[in-house]
Amino acid sequence: MTASHNGKLFIETVGCQMNMLDSELVVGALRKQGYNLTDDIREADTVLFNTCSVREHAEHKIYSALGRLKFSKQARPNQVIGVLGCMAQKDQELVFQRAPHVDLVVGTGQLAEVPRLIDAARESRERSLAVSLDRKEGGRAAVSDSFQSYDPLREPEMRPTPHQAFVRIVIGCDKFCTYCVVPMTRGPEQSRPPRDIRHEVQVLADQGVKEVTLLGQTVNSYKHTQDGRLFRLSDLLEHIHDVDGILRLKFVTNFPKDMTDDLLQAVRDLPKCAQYLHVPLQSGCNEMLKRMKRGYTVEDYREMMSRIRTTLPNAAISSDFIVGFCGETEESHQKSLDLIRECRFKNSFIFKYSPRPGTKAFELHADDVPEEIKKHRNNEMLALQNQISAEDNAQFIGRDVEVLVEGPSRNELKRGDPTTTGPVQLTGRTTCDRIVVFDGNPRLAGSLAQIQIDDCTPTTLLGQIVTREVQHGSSSLLPILV
Ligand code: SAH
Ligand code: SF4
Ligand code: F3S
Repeated sequence: MTASHNGKLFIETVGCQMNMLDSELVVGALRKQGYNLTDDIREADTVLFNTCSVREHAEHKIYSALGRLKFSKQARPNQVIGVLGCMAQKDQELVFQRAPHVDLVVGTGQLAEVPRLIDAARESRERSLAVSLDRKEGGRAAVSDSFQSYDPLREPEMRPTPHQAFVRIVIGCDKFCTYCVVPMTRGPEQSRPPRDIRHEVQVLADQGVKEVTLLGQTVNSYKHTQDGRLFRLSDLLEHIHDVDGILRLKFVTNFPKDMTDDLLQAVRDLPKCAQYLHVPLQSGCNEMLKRMKRGYTVEDYREMMSRIRTTLPNAAISSDFIVGFCGETEESHQKSLDLIRECRFKNSFIFKYSPRPGTKAFELHADDVPEEIKKHRNNEMLALQNQISAEDNAQFIGRDVEVLVEGPSRNELKRGDPTTTGPVQLTGRTTCDRIVVFDGNPRLAGSLAQIQIDDCTPTTLLGQIVTREVQHGSSSLLPILV
């Protein structure tokens, strides 16, 4: 049993959606024990960092934040500082060496222990380390068991918006791309039972969630046998599709080789599925793909794209790219640009290669592309992608789109007048994941609205709400719906 608290909790989260979900769950558990969230680190008696190791920059950010807390316990001797998540699993004892004032280091597979470990740290003032086995430290079953799936309580306030929630369906990763730490920080690939997933979606729907995003590092590798029946991602989508109240289902991130026809057909046939697929290509050069050990060629990716276009002609596809990977020549880089032109991604997340100790690429290949060139390639790729995104967005001008309204836009939140009752700037997303900004009543959040698009930027569509006069079968434009 853990004690009851009325302490203040500060948490900073970096990294991917998996981490956002983990933070939601940790905060949910702590709030149940009486903790209150604060966004002022100075008044917090419990300070948690949920960390990411995918690039060096993400780690630096956390070590610098920890550095700033070096003397904070002088003012608050009762303070407990915890490092959670991927960097905790990867660096383990090293976190204590680099930041001796840290009390707990808790890996991705031990997050259920956090409340107990905080109490223990406060009582005994002793450090604790809770991490999973390294991937070479035991058999597959033992290592898998040490990475416990952690999906207990849901905490609506920690969600991006009250109507959107993540649900983990696959933990870990077995692809071992040579540049990537995730198979180490998240452990072996394990798919959760369809029964548990459906139950969780049901709980979320009862809490008012309208859009569920299923999460996995390779979400489309999902496979689970339940009561003698094999569920693939396509089967799982069908299994949860009829949960009342859910309007939209998404899933990220897809692995190109696992983008099978049954999945594309499920997205086509199940109306709640978003017409959006995030399927990272990483490079348009076969030598690079081979060195990355991605398990497909440019030709394979092209074949997959053509299957997607045939089955889902209106779907938007987005990608990730790494520029400046070991041995990447100007020619390889140009091939990546060619593929961006050919595939016309809705958007691409572009990263400069960051060598990660413990990975195959780090051990085997020199990080031989100078930083300046990485930067240049990054900018060049971004400019090309932006041009394509702007051209594609421009095609929506004059058209009506259906959006799921998320709530006040970032600008509106910055303006921050909570007493406003009139129309405000809202954002929503189309089924193909395009962001739409328009004016409307904040009460529209969580509902579907028709928007006529009249302008755009590379990242955003801008428009006005359309209301239909059903009797006359015509549309009229109303700037505000009240
Ligand atoms: N599981 C997902 C992505 C996980 S990490 C997938 O396979 O697509 C998110 C993105 O970070 C990756 O797609 C890759 O583009 C990038 N990334 C991963 N390791 C990196 C590294 N060492 N340096 C730079 N970018 C990296
Ligand atoms: Fe990393 Fe590759 Fe797994 Fe994605 S598929 S998490 S890039 S190892
Ligand atoms: Fe980072 Fe871990 Fe996600 S390394 S990208 S937080 S799985």
